[in-house]
Amino acid sequence: MIPSDPTKRQAAPALSRRNFVTMGAGTALAPLVTGLAGAGAAVAAETAKPVDPRAPLNLSLKINGDEHQVSLDGRTTLLDALRETIGLTGTKKGCDHGQCGACTVHIDGVRVVSCLTLAATVQGRQITTIEGLAGQNGDLHPMQAAFVERDALQCGYCTPGQIMSAVGCVKEGHAKSDDEIREYMSGNLCRCAAYPNILAAIKQAAPQMEG
Ligand code: FES
Ligand code: FES
Repeated sequence: MIPSDPTKRQAAPALSRRNFVTMGAGTALAPLVTGLAGAGAAVAAETAKPVDPRAPLNLSLKINGDEHQVSLDGRTTLLDALRETIGLTGTKKGCDHGQCGACTVHIDGVRVVSCLTLAATVQGRQITTIEGLAGQNGDLHPMQAAFVERDALQCGYCTPGQIMSAVGCVKEGHAKSDDEIREYMSGNLCRCAAYPNILAAIKQAAPQMEG
């Protein structure tokens, strides 16, 4: 399960010398073990039907209130499904490795990085992207309006992810101080370094969202 908070993503466990040696030994032994098991398995394999892991899956994704029927390779990320298949390109691909936050969307109201989320795992969930944040009448969400008013962007590439994450940050109750906002927005990187204005925008929108 992908962590809901981009700031809380876990790093891969450190590879100690002991682990490395253990893994190395296991890897070296694997062909031998496979060889021993292979004789019996070969008989079953002749009758087993091969499964193609690339066979498309038919999925129904609920995005911004609309149902989308898609046929996808089971390994497709939600980010690629949104951008390449469904055509919602507001969600951006920065690193594609869970490190920049540009791809942040909401699943059932909780912020997640869509580049680390398989599309097949979010069937039946409420997916919200930057395109679905404004009101039905077209009025900007208070956070979107604050980003505009506070000039909280330069190139704008990180902005959809910043806004989706900022909405999550406020809803989680993590916008009580400047330091807290900085901490809980630290998973969203901005190469233009618009951080002071992003902070100002969040401080402006937070009371409007809460009130
Ligand atoms: S593109 Fe997903 S975290 Fe960078
Ligand atoms: S505004 Fe350019 S990367 Fe953030």
